[in-house]
Amino acid sequence: MSKAIFITGASSGIGKALAFEMGKKGYRLALTARREDLLREISEEINRKHAPPAVAIRRLDVTRYDDVYAVFSEMAEEIGGIDIVLANAGVGLGEKVGRGDFEKAKRTVEVNLIGAMATMDAAAAYFLKKGEGHIVGISSVAAFRGMPGSSAYCSSKAGLGVYMEAMRAELYRKNIDITVLYPGFIDTPLNDMLSSRPFLISVEKGAQSIARLIEKKVKSSTVPVFPWNIIGRLLKILPTGIIARM
Ligand SMILES: NC(=O)c1ccc[n+]([C@@H]2O[C@H](COP(=O)([O-])OP(=O)(O)OC[C@H]3O[C@@H](n4cnc5c(N)ncnc54)[C@H](OP(=O)(O)O)[C@@H]3O)[C@@H](O)[C@H]2O)c1
Repeated sequence: MSKAIFITGASSGIGKALAFEMGKKGYRLALTARREDLLREISEEINRKHAPPAVAIRRLDVTRYDDVYAVFSEMAEEIGGIDIVLANAGVGLGEKVGRGDFEKAKRTVEVNLIGAMATMDAAAAYFLKKGEGHIVGISSVAAFRGMPGSSAYCSSKAGLGVYMEAMRAELYRKNIDITVLYPGFIDTPLNDMLSSRPFLISVEKGAQSIARLIEKKVKSSTVPVFPWNIIGRLLKILPTGIIARM
C-alpha cells in the first residue's frame, strides 16, 4: 500500500503545496487546517490533477490540543494508517517587545510550538504502538538567531528544533525517524507583506525540496539547502549591531 502523510496547516502556502506534491507522488493524504472550505477545494483539485489513492480532510485548530489527538486518531482510521506526520501549521504575526504585543507573542508560541508539540506527541504515541513512523517539523532559519520584530516567532521555531532534538534522543532505536526542516524565505501569504525576502523561492520549489528531504529521511536541513546552510551559520555569529539593523 502507498504511504500516508498527515499534514497540519494544509489550507495554504507550504502545507498546501506539499499536499499537491505528495499527492502527485501517490501518497495517501490526511489534510487538516481551520479553513475547511479551502481544504475541500484543495482535495477536489488534488483528486482531479493527481488522483492519489486517498485524500481525507478535517477541520483542526492545533491550539485545541485535545482535538489534535482526536482528529489524528480518526484520520489514521479513515485512511488506513499514517506513516509520516508533518507539523507545519504556523503563524508569523510580527510582534515587538514592550509595545503591547504580548497577545500576538503568546498566540505565536501557542500555534507554532505548543500546537506542533501536540501534533508530534499524538504522532509519537501512534508510531510507538505501530513500531515505526516518521515525524517532520517545519522550523525556520529564524530559529538560528533572535531577530528584531519577531522575538516570539524566533523563540517558537528554536524551541521546536530543540523539542525535536530531544524527541530524537528519547525515541532512539524505536524505529521513528525525526526530521527538522529550517526553511529560508518561501513565497507564501505568511511573508508576502515583507519588503525584503532574500533568496526567495516559489512555494512549488519549496515543496519539492521539502518532499525530497522527507523521502531521504534527513535528520535536519535548511530549505533550500543552499544558501541557507551557510547563512544559518553566519547568522549565529553576526554581531548584535548588524542583527539590530535587519
Ligand atoms: N514561508 C516561509 O518563508 C517560511 C519560512 C520558514 C518557516 N515557515 C513555516 O512554514 C509553516 C507554513 O507557513 P506558510 O509559509 O505556508 O504560511 P501560510 O501560507 O500562512 O500557511 C499557514 C498554515 O497554517 C495554518 N494555521 C495557522 N494557524 C493555525 C491553527 N491555529 N491551527 C491549525 N492550522 C493553523 C493555516 O491554516 P488555517 O488558517 O486554515 O488554519 C495555514 O494552512 C509555518 O510553520 C511557518 O512558520 C515558513
